[in-house]
Amino acid sequence: THQWRGIIEEYRDRLPVTDTTPVVTLREGGTPLVPARLLSERTGCEVHLKVEGANPTGSFKDRGMTMAITKAKEEGAQAVICASTGNTSASAAAYAVRAGMVCAVLVPQGKIALGKMGQALVYGSKILQVDGNFDDCLNLARSLSENYPVALVNSVNPYRIEGQKTGSFEIVDALGDAPDIHVLPVGNAGNITAYWKGYKEYAADKVSSRTPRMWGFQASGSAPIVRGEVVKDPSTIATAIRIGNPASWQHALAAREESGGFIDEVTDREILRAYKLLASQEGVFVEPASAASVAGLLKAAEQGKVDPGQKIVCTVTGNGLKDPDWAVAGAPQPVTVPVDAAAAAERLGLA
Ligand code: F0G
Repeated sequence: THQWRGIIEEYRDRLPVTDTTPVVTLREGGTPLVPARLLSERTGCEVHLKVEGANPTGSFKDRGMTMAITKAKEEGAQAVICASTGNTSASAAAYAVRAGMVCAVLVPQGKIALGKMGQALVYGSKILQVDGNFDDCLNLARSLSENYPVALVNSVNPYRIEGQKTGSFEIVDALGDAPDIHVLPVGNAGNITAYWKGYKEYAADKVSSRTPRMWGFQASGSAPIVRGEVVKDPSTIATAIRIGNPASWQHALAAREESGGFIDEVTDREILRAYKLLASQEGVFVEPASAASVAGLLKAAEQGKVDPGQKIVCTVTGNGLKDPDWAVAGAPQPVTVPVDAAAAAERLGLA
């Protein structure tokens, strides 16, 4: 019997590890690539969803974190730190447990989803809520890592990018070649950087015959790359990507230019529409930030930017259970019935 071994063992020859590297893993990766029927119909393309919410802590961050914590362990670190809009902290906290390390987390006060806060707490990390936004948290984390004995595991850590590039490998391995277009939500811009690196490496080694065009989408209230300037007070309901000064900004621009892609914005309304569509039409429950990729694809299709017949992959980055408020909000309250089959049948419209 074969069990998926986690991205480091599965892609060992393409990652910076040796035989003596102490691998810290929760067997992340190996996530489903799910054909999306309605999105394919709407675009006239073959659309797949890379469902990263199926990772051990519920987001794509686990791919990067297994590498970052493994290398921190190899280098003898005893403590790690990150700034986060929630998912990075959940992942760092979990992998720190596996590594026997202390994990410190800086989050913007009042701006992370409850599920993510719960994860950081239950994994036993040391959390500080910062009176500022994510960009302030990242500056603080950088400064602490430079002046105290604590390793930074944000995506400015190159090992994070190494781990996250395996998302592209899995897609090419599953489809037999790279897709025509790859669509991602963009926040701190680490993931679009990582996917592009992965696609380039596979193409250079002739594992794939081509690279896809990279399409990235930011939330309108937090779209510094689209605007071409830092957003001082970013806002969006998609708290995961509420970022005004992305650390990998230049790398995201390079991915866009080199791949012939683009980076655009989607409104919160468009994000919520895609969020509901994904759950109710595709059976895939994601968190709002993840729906930005699909919202972007639908927007591009409506603008006539999507030629039919192409293969398209949308990464949906985080699990819907992280932030269920948006699923419950505005939905009708379920009715209460007595323990009575006839009454239940009537309410269900079966009778
Ligand atoms: N989707 C989700 C669910 C995220 O949590 C993030 C980033 C992104 C998309 C954007 O990815 O930053 O690589 O462009 N979350 C970070 C965090 C910032 O702290 O968890 P990116």
